[in-house]
Amino acid sequence: MKYTSTFFLPLLLCGTVVLAALVNAAPPPAPDDSASQLIESLGCRGCHRIQDFGGSQAPDLTAIGTRLTTAEIAEWLMTHPRPGDSQMMPSYSTLSAEDIDKLSSYLYNLR
Ligand code: HEC
Repeated sequence: MKYTSTFFLPLLLCGTVVLAALVNAAPPPAPDDSASQLIESLGCRGCHRIQDFGGSQAPDLTAIGTRLTTAEIAEWLMTHPRPGDSQMMPSYSTLSAEDIDKLSSYLYNLR
């Protein structure tokens, strides 16, 4: 009896530590999760650098919120390309208003 408990107790403790580590490893749900998923699925980083990574063919959007307001970013997404804009960025004007809101407030708040 004594032998069993000195053998199993450390084992049990080990298991608890491993379990706790696994639970901690799961990333906390970020409130802007769906916005960053949109950015991935729409391929914005193919051209734009956003925070840590992305392309260099287009302006870095990390600090876009220091130049444009949320409404101006939304306006860009809804109306691009206007006469005079470069034709490189595709039109995203068919996105839902909800998605445009998510993207523009996410980008604005990166600053
Ligand atoms: C094929 C390349 C490409 C893709 C993909 C792309 N963009 Fe762009 N974007 C550009 C270029 C080039 C510009 C520079 C302005 C222009 O076109 O006149 C730009 C400009 C912008 C601007 C205005 C920046 C400023 O400094 O005024 C915003 C905001 C923006 N893009 C957001 C996005 C978002 C959000 C996505 C994804 C939904 C996206 N872009 C996808 C190429 C791209």
